[in-house]
Amino acid sequence: MMIRTLLLCAAALAATGAALLLGGCGELKSDLPAPGPQKGVHDVGWNDPSSSAFHGVVLKQTGYKTTDCVSCHAKALTGGISGQSCFSCHESYPHKAGWNDSVSTQFHGKFLQLGMGTLAECASCHGAGYDGGTSGTSCYSCHASYPHKTGWISSNPASSHGGYLSQKNWELSECSSCHGATFTGGTSGSSCFTCHAAYPHTVFAPAGGHPGFLLDRGYPLDGCKTCHGATYDGSTLVHVSCMSAGCHVDAGGQKKSPEACNTCHGDFRALATNAISAAPPKGVMGDSSTTSRSVGAHQKHLASGTLGNDVKCVECHAVPTQVLIAGHVDTQLPAEVAFHDTLASLPSAAGTFRPAPSYSAATLTCSSTYCHGNWKATKATAPTAYAFAYTDSVMTGAAFAPSWTGGAADAACASCHALPPAGHMPSTLTICANCHTGVVNGEGRIIDKSMHINGKINVFGTERDF
Ligand code: HEC
Ligand code: HEC
Ligand code: HEC
Ligand code: HEC
Ligand code: HEC
Ligand code: HEC
Ligand code: HEC
Ligand code: HEC
Ligand code: HEC
Ligand code: HEC
Ligand code: HEC
Repeated sequence: MMIRTLLLCAAALAATGAALLLGGCGELKSDLPAPGPQKGVHDVGWNDPSSSAFHGVVLKQTGYKTTDCVSCHAKALTGGISGQSCFSCHESYPHKAGWNDSVSTQFHGKFLQLGMGTLAECASCHGAGYDGGTSGTSCYSCHASYPHKTGWISSNPASSHGGYLSQKNWELSECSSCHGATFTGGTSGSSCFTCHAAYPHTVFAPAGGHPGFLLDRGYPLDGCKTCHGATYDGSTLVHVSCMSAGCHVDAGGQKKSPEACNTCHGDFRALATNAISAAPPKGVMGDSSTTSRSVGAHQKHLASGTLGNDVKCVECHAVPTQVLIAGHVDTQLPAEVAFHDTLASLPSAAGTFRPAPSYSAATLTCSSTYCHGNWKATKATAPTAYAFAYTDSVMTGAAFAPSWTGGAADAACASCHALPPAGHMPSTLTICANCHTGVVNGEGRIIDKSMHINGKINVFGTERDF
């Protein structure tokens, strides 16, 4: 119990009506009559904690009956005619008006928070386990989980806060009253997030739910596994499996690990082996519009193009074999685009012309790709029989820089090369098919995707390298 050492002196001053001036208490004290039992108001031992006549012992025995004290010590026990306030020795008892009113300055919560007293002080009356003691009032009758018991921070479910919450089916409103509505500390000053960054899950609320939370932090999936289990299927304490709904269940209702490639990228067939996609991709934040940079022209390249072969992811990206692998999710969006395969950088002009394809994340455009017309065909290296088609020493594509989100207009028929290309004998679209047999038809439409934008010159039913 907090004892004020100067208090007899202060009480004596109050009793004599002397004003507290600049002089120290010690100096004044010698002028006053010695206080004590000789005054005869209280029994010997009344103020001696080791005595059986001690006022504390007596009061506890009588069930804290202070009605006998108020006549001299005043109704609020602040002194009265006795000149002796109970609060001069113990600040927390008798409990003042407002002790149980959370907006009062006398509120017990504030008293403890401000360090005006300690929990141990409460324990002398409310019991060592805070479950009542001689006071008969258990702290747990109002806040079931506070004071926090021994073992509260441990992994023993019998005593830990995790085990407690598990039993309460993760009802956190009780904690939020002290730890704050957002669990960042509140009046308790103790934030849940100092120990587990991702829980309580109110932390997912702002930016795009848990996908956004994870994306922003580079996918700290191990932090989720501590509660949701090593395979995300729930743990003994947290029975909540990630794989019960939404992105974590496949079309057949089967569980799908959060780490599966198609959890974040839409349904790609055997995507890890760079195989070709089967279904529309989606952005990692779930967006699906082709005008979004995350979606853009993926689908046209991967599956539904009408001009050429399907393109693999590796043509434009480094493809990871697992989620948490260097180069994959370790940077913020946008995704890295790098031309890794052979088509975008295909050499032409008999190997003398090598494109250096690039992508600008600022303008969302690709430049210098073979695919979009950065190629040359030289007359000197063409078969003699085909030299007639050249009006110049070289035929060139248009080296177009398409916008990833530009849609069909950015892959229009004459965008990658003129019809016919520069350096080619004059022709019209309807007669290309006469010579480029099997590639186009008489209406100028591509009829065999495997022969167009395939890195080969296809003419008169033959195929040769550039
Ligand atoms: C001169 C100082 C002083 C004054 C004044 C005083 N007390 Fe105490 N009181 C003590 C001390 C010292 C203890 C013992 C604390 C302990 O055991 O930790 C105590 C203990 C108690 C206890 C038992 C609490 C416990 O922790 O076991 C009660 C009840 C109590 N006092 C009531 C009162 C009341 C009511 C008044 C006013 C009418 C009062 N006291 C005034 C010094 C004082
Ligand atoms: C008849 C008046 C009167 C009553 C009733 C009374 N007190 Fe006091 N009490 C005093 C006075 C006067 C003092 C000042 C010191 C003294 O004179 O002993 C005092 C001092 C005390 C002290 C300080 C002890 C010390 O040695 O300084 C305590 C503790 C105390 N009272 C507790 C109580 C409690 C608890 C009750 C009720 C159970 C109570 N008193 C009832 C008049 C009273
Ligand atoms: C000297 C004994 C004693 C001490 C020390 C003590 N209490 Fe109490 N407390 C009681 C008793 C007796 C009650 C029953 C109601 C009453 O007398 O106010 C009580 C009741 C309460 C209540 C319920 C009040 C209401 O209006 O229902 C709260 C809250 C409380 N105490 C908190 C505390 C806290 C916190 C501490 C420590 C800072 C503490 N008590 C220290 C004896 C004590
Ligand atoms: C001082 C660090 C710390 C603080 C602060 C903290 N916790 Fe914990 N928490 C732990 C530890 C340690 C575990 C046990 C982990 C284990 O079992 O491996 C745990 C476990 C849990 C668990 C159970 C998960 C499990 O599988 O064990 C939940 C739920 C939980 N805490 C919720 C909270 C809430 C809500 C708060 C804020 C009110 C909070 N924690 C504040 C350290 C802390
Ligand atoms: C009545 C207020 C109150 C309530 C209700 C409460 N806490 Fe606390 N909690 C505190 C205070 C104050 C602390 C600071 C240390 C202390 O006093 O134990 C704390 C500390 C903790 C700590 C230890 C943090 C550390 O840094 O050591 C954990 C864990 C914790 N609380 C979890 C919970 C959980 C979980 C709940 C809900 C079941 C909860 N608390 C309910 C007030 C409360
Ligand atoms: C009669 C109901 C009641 C009893 C009994 C009670 N409290 Fe409280 N206590 C409250 C309420 C209400 C709050 C405010 C919580 C809130 O803000 O929702 C509170 C808040 C607190 C806080 C402040 C925590 C914080 O961070 O804001 C502490 C500390 C505290 N109580 C300790 C105790 C202790 C220790 C006991 C037992 C000695 C006790 N209380 C008994 C009702 C009670
Ligand atoms: C401290 C334990 C703990 C940690 C760590 C944890 N979770 Fe949870 N999670 C739970 C509990 C308990 C529930 C069920 C109750 C709830 O929704 O709060 C849950 C539920 C969920 C839910 C379903 C929420 C809903 O509203 O249905 C999602 C989604 C989730 N967690 C994702 C994650 C992710 C992602 C991580 C890692 C970043 C993670 N969790 C880390 C304990 C945890
Ligand atoms: C033709 C080139 C190309 C191909 C093939 C391609 N991508 Fe992309 N990818 C891009 C471009 C361009 C972006 C947009 C980058 C930006 O935002 O600046 C992009 C963005 C992405 C993003 C970021 C999504 C987001 O939410 O922002 C992911 C993930 C991605 N691609 C995965 C794949 C996967 C998986 C494949 C294979 C199934 C694939 N890509 C095939 C060019 C391609
Ligand atoms: C948990 C979500 C998640 C999973 C699971 C996932 N990815 Fe990704 N992936 C992303 C994010 C986020 C990006 C964008 C990273 C960035 O900004 O660079 C990305 C980017 C990519 C890219 C574009 C290149 C890059 O690194 O930016 C490819 C290709 C890719 N992922 C393939 C895969 C493959 C293959 C798998 C399965 C082995 C997979 N992803 C699993 C989230 C995921
Ligand atoms: C996305 C860029 C692109 C677009 C759009 C495009 N082409 Fe091509 N085209 C090429 C490339 C690259 C070649 C070089 C040869 C190759 O790789 O097939 C080519 C070659 C050709 C050839 C020569 C035959 C061959 O494949 O060697 C014909 C004919 C042709 N294109 C017709 C068309 C027609 C008709 C259209 C509009 C329907 C069209 N192209 C649109 C990129 C494009
Ligand atoms: C009379 C025959 C003939 C017609 C008609 C013709 N081409 Fe060609 N084209 C050729 C020959 C021959 C070459 C040179 C092949 C070589 O160098 O191996 C050629 C080369 C090309 C090339 C560059 C090499 C390649 O195959 O990619 C393109 C592109 C091309 N033609 C597109 C067209 C388009 C588009 C049309 C219609 C607008 C067209 N051509 C009409 C005969 C023709």
